[in-house]
Amino acid sequence: MKVTTAIWRWFHIPLARKGLKTNSISETRSPIRIGHRGAAGYCPENTFASFHKAIELGVDFLEMDVQMTKDGELVVIHDSTVNRTTNGKGKVKDFTLREIQTLDAGSWFDPQFGGEKVPSFGDFLDEFSSKIGILLEIKNPILYPGIEEKIANELLKRGLNRSEGNQVIVQSFDQNSLKKFHQLVPSIQIGVLLKRFSGKGLSNRELDLFSSYAAYVNPKITMVNRRLISKIHRHGFKSFIWTVRNRKEVQLLRHFHVEGIISDFPDLL
Ligand code: G3P
Ligand code: CA
Repeated sequence: MKVTTAIWRWFHIPLARKGLKTNSISETRSPIRIGHRGAAGYCPENTFASFHKAIELGVDFLEMDVQMTKDGELVVIHDSTVNRTTNGKGKVKDFTLREIQTLDAGSWFDPQFGGEKVPSFGDFLDEFSSKIGILLEIKNPILYPGIEEKIANELLKRGLNRSEGNQVIVQSFDQNSLKKFHQLVPSIQIGVLLKRFSGKGLSNRELDLFSSYAAYVNPKITMVNRRLISKIHRHGFKSFIWTVRNRKEVQLLRHFHVEGIISDFPDLL
């Protein structure tokens, strides 16, 4: 066995020791390919067109963002307002599902996508969960009390918490939301999203706190170096890196042996 392979395997031992679920992701050296908001570089993000394009480009997982409407329905959209990605104006939480679905979610990107709608989470799961893995981001949960229970219900009623079939992984920047979701559905793996360091670096204390509920630590590409990824691995976590937009970054991340790469251009992977 090559020394690098031995070291890489060694980093992953704590996962099993902690009793966290292992799967094909931790056993392959090739990072899994994750389409960011579908294939957001080629299609209007978080639309069916974008998710279908990502699948056509060969991704293993679809990354997507979930928020909640005024009438308590879950929708797939990134911003807390509809202003940037539709022809409407206003906060997601001030629309009903019926109202938000009258908006055009495609033309802002290109007139050829004029028929695209803001997908409901249920419709998204019905269309894609049997085809591919899902990396679900709980977006702005502080704005939507009860969103964790609603997401859990949608997943449970489709049996998406079970180990057979495609995997669902839940991530967020909001650690309270993640802890809550973990209590609701312990069998679904959790990822902590990091945008920047809170102090000098990522501390052992922070990583120890994450380990009570998360299996992944997913930093922004601007935070990443070999030391950080080694530390994340030493603490028994897997790591998906976001958002990658060029080949140089892909090459670098392969050297660091990250488990997944999230990209707007999934064909780069
Ligand atoms: O998957 C991580 C990434 O999506 C987090 O940032 O702003 O693109 O949702 P954002
Ligand atoms: Ca996201």
